Amino acid sequence: MKPQHALPADGCAWVTGASSGIGRSVALELARRGWIVAATARREDELSSLALEAESLLGRIVAYPADVTNPEVLAAVAETIASVHGPIALAFFNAGIAPYIRAPNIDLAAVRQVMDVNVMGVFNGLAAVLPAMALRGRGQIAVTASVAGYGGLPKAAAYGASKAAVINACEALKFDCDALGIKLQLVNPGFVATPLTAKNDFPMPFLVTEEDAAKRTVDGFAEDRFEIHYPRRLSWLMKVVNLLPYPLYFWMVGRTTGTRK
Ligand SMILES: NC(=O)c1ccc[n+]([C@@H]2O[C@H](COP(=O)([O-])OP(=O)(O)OC[C@H]3O[C@@H](n4cnc5c(N)ncnc54)[C@H](OP(=O)(O)O)[C@@H]3O)[C@@H](O)[C@H]2O)c1
Repeated sequence: MKPQHALPADGCAWVTGASSGIGRSVALELARRGWIVAATARREDELSSLALEAESLLGRIVAYPADVTNPEVLAAVAETIASVHGPIALAFFNAGIAPYIRAPNIDLAAVRQVMDVNVMGVFNGLAAVLPAMALRGRGQIAVTASVAGYGGLPKAAAYGASKAAVINACEALKFDCDALGIKLQLVNPGFVATPLTAKNDFPMPFLVTEEDAAKRTVDGFAEDRFEIHYPRRLSWLMKVVNLLPYPLYFWMVGRTTGTRK
């Protein structure tokens, strides 16, 4: 049987990167739909105000501050969440950062940090929940990558590489997860208006709000597809652009981003 999507009756949801942007809005959307949501990020004050904001909703949000780059801490948090709220039925590994990296001065510390948060943070989360889900023979995991993981984009050498790694990792793990009864999905957003993109100094076509992104993400959790991608106008365009031969790819991306005349 195909792995099934998780329901609030199966246990609780765990969202990382919940203190702002997409993660925050997804946590609220899940609580609106009746989930008990364990919310993780480093900023405790933001998580506390999120929990307060959810008080009037059908479900609720409980703060579990942690740094996703610490595997021991993340494993301990997962254990605590399960012991307090019941099994983690749905995990959304979404924490991420996106500093610009440009030639000729490669900021190695920034590259390492991106890989640590965006790639190792996801693996740390997966390691924390997969064994228990495998034992139960059910569970659902969604991981936020990005359409920037489809192919190289200006300024995104480390960010895009981290998201390409996450896309590849999820494709690979889907084979095992399917056999274990665990539903694994990728979330590949285009541009979403969040603190992460607020610093962007280039045009962001088809920008969507974080509330819209959250709705599309949570709706996607109940669907049968492996990849939840939006807005479709941009994600399909990016998919097609990444099929082009390199000279055309560099010309088109260069022109549309203003990096090539
Ligand atoms: N916005 C977009 O257009 C867009 C497009 C495609 C993909 N994405 C992806 O969507 C995800 C969410 O991004 P966003 O746009 O919502 O950005 P955001 O508002 O900046 O949120 C990022 C979240 O990640 C958390 N985080 C960062 N480092 C962390 C760490 N070491 N440990 C725990 N949590 C950490 C932040 O919380 P603390 O600072 O409190 O720890 C925050 O809650 C990211 O993976 C991003 O790459 C975004």
